[in-house]
Amino acid sequence: MQTRTLGRNGPQVSALGLGCMGMSDFYGDRDDAESIATIHRALDRGVTLLDTADMYGPHTNEALVGKAIRGRREQAFIATKFGIVRDPANPAARGVDGRPEYVRAACEGSLKRLGIETIDLYYQHRVDPAVPIEETVGAMAELVQAGKVRHLGLSEASAATLERASKVHPIAALQSEFSLWTRDPESNGVLDACRRLGIAFVAYSPLGRGFLTGAIRSPEDFEADDYRRSSPRFQGGNFARNLALVDEVKALAADKGCSPAQLALAWVLAQGDDVLAIPGTKKRSRLDENLGALDVVLSKQELAAIDAVFPAGAVAGARYAAASMAHVNR
Ligand SMILES: NC(=O)c1ccc[n+]([C@@H]2O[C@H](COP(=O)([O-])OP(=O)(O)OC[C@H]3O[C@@H](n4cnc5c(N)ncnc54)[C@H](OP(=O)(O)O)[C@@H]3O)[C@@H](O)[C@H]2O)c1
Repeated sequence: MQTRTLGRNGPQVSALGLGCMGMSDFYGDRDDAESIATIHRALDRGVTLLDTADMYGPHTNEALVGKAIRGRREQAFIATKFGIVRDPANPAARGVDGRPEYVRAACEGSLKRLGIETIDLYYQHRVDPAVPIEETVGAMAELVQAGKVRHLGLSEASAATLERASKVHPIAALQSEFSLWTRDPESNGVLDACRRLGIAFVAYSPLGRGFLTGAIRSPEDFEADDYRRSSPRFQGGNFARNLALVDEVKALAADKGCSPAQLALAWVLAQGDDVLAIPGTKKRSRLDENLGALDVVLSKQELAAIDAVFPAGAVAGARYAAASMAHVNR
């Protein structure tokens, strides 16, 4: 398994992790048995980085991951997140909380649900504009000192926030959306800040929530409660325009002799030795396909050809609806 260093002098983790969110939430039906089999297959194949969060479910995804790693704790590098608050009775509503007392309580909950003594990588899921980042990261640093957490991360944090946070405690990883159709980190200073500060960049939704695989052909392909139905890029005219872009990617993948999913993941990994990707799937067959991306090496000419058909900014539609976009730290 190819590995990447998480932060300056940090641990080695698999270059491709496994995103576990969709196993419990957002993307249609659950199949816990197949999801657990997928996590086991990932560990068997040397994938160490498993990504979850307390708000997935809410709470059920951590329990699922915890069940899957029972007896195999040493093979897994567990990343989880706190800070997006959801009430199980009203899961559509969202809050953000970065207060130190919330950080401490959230960590206890995650440890319990995961059934582990230490979280390998603990992220703040969204920056709380009402709490100075120094206070939140200060509380997270105390969790490291207490042995409850090994490494710290932030998600969707701005370059300025990363600078401030790093003065309190080393930040091992920044997790933000990054893919062929979400190129923001290239131009908003975040990738540069990560490099300056020695922070690994973990790309979430590297398959564009499935769209970049070419398997989604119509908004009607989703189940009634699938989150993507409410996402701007998957709606109406945006969907059609984005599909035309993906069909170009499909053609390039065919030329390369790989699948579109593999091309999309290889593109992310080609952005630097400090970039990791955590594609999500609840199926063993797709995990196997996605791991094939590790064997797809893109030349400069091939990267330029991808850029020519899918340039930064070509995507139609915002990556989140306005209410969720408001929680992104800018
Ligand atoms: N920090 C954050 O705010 C944040 C936000 C979103 C996600 N994340 C994390 O990032 C992880 C990955 O992101 P994501 O799950 O949103 O999106 P993604 O990895 O871009 O795409 C996942 C979707 O693609 C499908 N898929 C996977 N491999 C495929 C293949 N080879 N062919 C066709 N379809 C394929 C999956 O369906 P099947 O399951 O049916 O295969 C799923 O619907 C999540 O699991 C989560 O841990 C973090």
